[in-house]
Amino acid sequence: MLSTAIRKVIIPAAGLGTRFLPATKASPKEMLPLVDKPLIQYAVEEAVASGIEDIIIITGRGKRAIEDHFDRSFELEENLKGNGKAQLLKDIRRISEIANFCYVRQSEALGLGHAVLCARHLIGDEPFAILLSDEIIDGPVPALAQLIQAYDAGNGGVIGVKKVQRAEVSQYGIIAGRRVAGGLHRVLDLVEKPAPSQAPSRFAVIGRYVLSPDIFPILERTTPGKNREIQLTDALRCLARQAPLYAQEIQGQRHDAGDKLGFLKATVDFALKNPVLGPPFLRYLKQLR
Ligand code: UTP
Repeated sequence: MLSTAIRKVIIPAAGLGTRFLPATKASPKEMLPLVDKPLIQYAVEEAVASGIEDIIIITGRGKRAIEDHFDRSFELEENLKGNGKAQLLKDIRRISEIANFCYVRQSEALGLGHAVLCARHLIGDEPFAILLSDEIIDGPVPALAQLIQAYDAGNGGVIGVKKVQRAEVSQYGIIAGRRVAGGLHRVLDLVEKPAPSQAPSRFAVIGRYVLSPDIFPILERTTPGKNREIQLTDALRCLARQAPLYAQEIQGQRHDAGDKLGFLKATVDFALKNPVLGPPFLRYLKQLR
């Protein structure tokens, strides 16, 4: 069932991508390809498959390639048409027609919370989604659709979580929660990157959120935290204290494609799944030591 209530998604893409330098010095991290598609296209396709119509991308300096990617490319289209590459032409056109795109510039990378706040004027009074494009979640049901379903059924904001190994909790935002049904938890608190011995659970926040606009006044009041950035996690902690906030366990394989090792693993997984490239790529991998 697709929700009629959640029509807009914010995709923050103005970060500096320092974990992926030097590749991200002059090119957006979000344009790194998994096989043949940039990360941000996977994000947009997940949003559209989840019923979203309006895509708000937060961009910054050096991110122009993102706008070009979702725009028409007449020269390329003419070339493909002239060379009889009809399927490729269709695929390329589809990218610019898949949704309504809107771009907001974050003039300084002041944190994920600040990036979300930059889109406040485009959200208005309705609930909305946030999707981080370097977190790729691959599964039969789009991750955001799973979250929207939980939002429709409940009475508060929902954040996507996934259980991680105890040794890994220090890489994530971790929830303290109480299970209320199946994979749904009531969030009591959030802790950013706790030591394994201090972690209140093993449920890590994985870059998918459905929230009401109540988050905006909180973000506005949130003072810069770690790295002098306005952290979305700090605002969510505050939200959880004043209104019900839930966490939904997300089904699907998750890849942190903003990290070099995570990106390599995602590339191998997606290449092996590719019907054309998969078999020869597997043969190649098998003959490596
Ligand atoms: P990350 O911390 O994963 O991305 O932020 P980053 O800052 O680009 O990368 P590293 O950690 O330095 O390698 C999560 C998301 O929030 C966006 C990023 O683009 C990413 O999609 N973001 C982060 C912004 O849009 N603005 C910011 O000021 C910070």
